Amino acid sequence: MSFKKDFVWGAATASYQIEGAAYEDGKGMNIWDDYCKIPGKILNGDTGDVACDHYHRYKEDVALMKQLGIKAYRFSISWARILPDGTGKVNPKGLEFYKNLVNELKANGITPYATLFHWDYPSKLMEKGGWLNSDSPNWFAEYVKTVVEFFKDDIPNYITFNEPSVVIGCGYVITEHAPGIKLDNYMLVPMAHNILKAHGMAVKIIREFAPKAKIGYAPASNPIIPPNHDANEVEAARKKYFGVNDPINWVWSPSWWGDPIVLGKYPEDGLKILGKYLPKNYEEDLKLINQPIDFYGHNIYQGEYVKEQNGVAVNLPNKVGYPRTAIGWPITPEALYWGPKFLHERYNLPIIITENGLSCHDAVSLDGKVHDPNRIDFLNRYLLQLKKAAEDGADIAGYFQWSLMDNFEWAKGYFDRFGLIYVDYQTQKRTPKDSFYWYSEVIKQNGENL
Ligand code: FCB
Repeated sequence: MSFKKDFVWGAATASYQIEGAAYEDGKGMNIWDDYCKIPGKILNGDTGDVACDHYHRYKEDVALMKQLGIKAYRFSISWARILPDGTGKVNPKGLEFYKNLVNELKANGITPYATLFHWDYPSKLMEKGGWLNSDSPNWFAEYVKTVVEFFKDDIPNYITFNEPSVVIGCGYVITEHAPGIKLDNYMLVPMAHNILKAHGMAVKIIREFAPKAKIGYAPASNPIIPPNHDANEVEAARKKYFGVNDPINWVWSPSWWGDPIVLGKYPEDGLKILGKYLPKNYEEDLKLINQPIDFYGHNIYQGEYVKEQNGVAVNLPNKVGYPRTAIGWPITPEALYWGPKFLHERYNLPIIITENGLSCHDAVSLDGKVHDPNRIDFLNRYLLQLKKAAEDGADIAGYFQWSLMDNFEWAKGYFDRFGLIYVDYQTQKRTPKDSFYWYSEVIKQNGENL
């Protein structure tokens, strides 16, 4: 047994992180355009103004995707490029850019997976309170309708939201991402509810205008890893992973963001502490939120090791000198076993890993190549665990490596390099890294060489 025959091997990016062209062709401003202008917010004062200049170089980038051999490409659509004010007037140039990209992908045999929201929220709508405004699901619905009416099934796969936990957690709790406003549960819980409603409305619209398209969602989590695999430990890990019992850390919970969508209800334990912040009619909204979807996407980079103590999973401290990536995230390959396994058990939907990867301190060597053995080793270890999850019965439908190319890593600017392709930001020269050729071989052999 191995990966399915039609396994979706892909790579992912996001609009603000690669496109650049921030002030071109009628694009409106978004909260990342604004946030990058605030001194001290982004490392080295970097911005996404130019990024990888993908807006102008998409043909070269698609040619590289073809060389890589990916079957699918996950990109995101910039809301303010389509609707500069977030609602109202449509920017035809914005639609044209994505149409050209989609056509180029198809001409090269690559299947588009379009994420409708990957964090670049229109500034004009932020002025009205953003996701806190109870009209915000309608604003999102208008944008989604504009996109889907235009593309219909030409985009065969839509992903509604990328990592809503990070939208709220990093944007409004930790405040290291745009808009960087500290809020508490009075506002955070209704905001999360509005995002879930917006997801439900988007799914309905996609079903109406693109009935053949597949629909997914791309939340994120750090799976809980029971290292000894014994039954009690596994059960304790499962409980911890899906438990919602902390008035601050609920924002990172996979079940708060997943259960309403797939199971049509908020997790009981979470309701005990957070129910009082939900709008009065929230149960009615759950019908809207609980639209059938076709696959459960999940972004997984790292997990947490635990031990079982009296039925409870307790975090194990990181060992001295534990392996970690350049950005500092622990290397925990089993996260790609336990995460998909637990999620598949709970939601019973095909699982697609919509992001996984690492940052390294990559550089162009004297020989003109980019040698990144750490990335190859990381991906190899994680993919072996994913393969094991599939062998043990989880329905794993695809895997998107983050990222196709080095790009603007939010608050860390250009300091961290996540790509299979090295980008020289001075010249915009692209250099495929060693991992690019390695991943290409994995795809060719459908993971048999892992
Ligand atoms: C995820 C984001 C993605 C990228 C990776 C490294 O949280 O979805 O845009 O920044 O982390």
